[in-house]
Amino acid sequence: MEVGGVFALSTTRELAVADRIAKMVPAAELVRFSNSGTEAVMAALRLARAHTGREQYLLVEGGYHGLFDAAMWMANVEDWKPGSNDDPEMVPYGKGIPPTVKQLAHLVPMNDMQRLEDMFKRHGDKLAAMLIEPIQGNCCAIMARVEYVQLARRLCDQYGVMLIIDEVKSGFRVGKGGIQGLMGVVPDITTFAKAVGNGYPIALVAGREEVMRSFRYGGASHGGTYTAHSVSLAAAEECLRILDETPALETLAGHGKSLMAGISRILDARGIVHSYTGHPSMFGLFFDAVPPDNYRAWKTSDYTFYDTMAGYLHDLGIIVEPDSREPWFMCEAHGLDASCLSDTLAAVERAVDLTVEELAETK
Ligand SMILES: Cc1ncc(COP(=O)(O)O)c(C=O)c1O
Repeated sequence: MEVGGVFALSTTRELAVADRIAKMVPAAELVRFSNSGTEAVMAALRLARAHTGREQYLLVEGGYHGLFDAAMWMANVEDWKPGSNDDPEMVPYGKGIPPTVKQLAHLVPMNDMQRLEDMFKRHGDKLAAMLIEPIQGNCCAIMARVEYVQLARRLCDQYGVMLIIDEVKSGFRVGKGGIQGLMGVVPDITTFAKAVGNGYPIALVAGREEVMRSFRYGGASHGGTYTAHSVSLAAAEECLRILDETPALETLAGHGKSLMAGISRILDARGIVHSYTGHPSMFGLFFDAVPPDNYRAWKTSDYTFYDTMAGYLHDLGIIVEPDSREPWFMCEAHGLDASCLSDTLAAVERAVDLTVEELAETK
């Protein structure tokens, strides 16, 4: 703040932060800075299009990539009949998104290898990019199977498509190198935000050098008044140093494991069947023996218990996402005060009992 915020030229701190990221994320041979996750993914898609000379792109059902027209197409599973042979209709998130954009977008269900291969057979030579969140941070933390992401990698190589792994939520949270590091899959382009600056507005678009060089005069454009803002960069520099050099991420996952184990103790004692998906640092809770492995399966699960319990938790002072599609995210500060876990679990126990009572009455 003392030296200022916005400079028209690059600063040495950009290099220091980019070096740190390149060390932590093998796919990040070159790094550029954006202000938000939306901007970073928008730039990633533009880069893929510039590099391949193609326009179409593939999204995974249940994924979320920010609020720009190309990413605002989703599978309408609410109105889709499970078991039908038809795919859910592709619909816009809301008004104001030109229907012409839809012609460039395709959707596939997560973890369905056959449909992914079929999609590439039909459209692979026209696709600039496949965008995937291997942990769906906006869809119950549904996880891609490693084989599914590996298949995506192989098909992208085979058809000359850019694999974009969107780590806006999972990045610098589930591991130093993100979910791509845990899965051992290297994308062509990758995006990060949120945890990068621990709340300060900064995001990254990074990738293979040869691809990233398409950001150039006469190639793809990228930048903006506030990109690489000094204050956000300073936050990122220190935040990434802590994540890289201390066991902060293990601590974070430890909080998640303790919370999950505590919730399971409460539910098991009452014979309530449940399961988890995602990662201990960002997990989804399901009242079913097997968690959904794609957005279509989410539709067939019963969320009455979760929805009711979330309301009671709010009343008891524990703010959990009322929409069961949002995972539970851990914060390192959750461990600063031991009562944080015990208070939360006491509220969960009470909320579970109130839920059981209410659902028994409505039967
Ligand atoms: C995976 C993913 N990509 C992109 C975005 C968009 O990021 P922002 O809200 O910073 O624009 C989000 C936001 O939650 C996200 O979860």
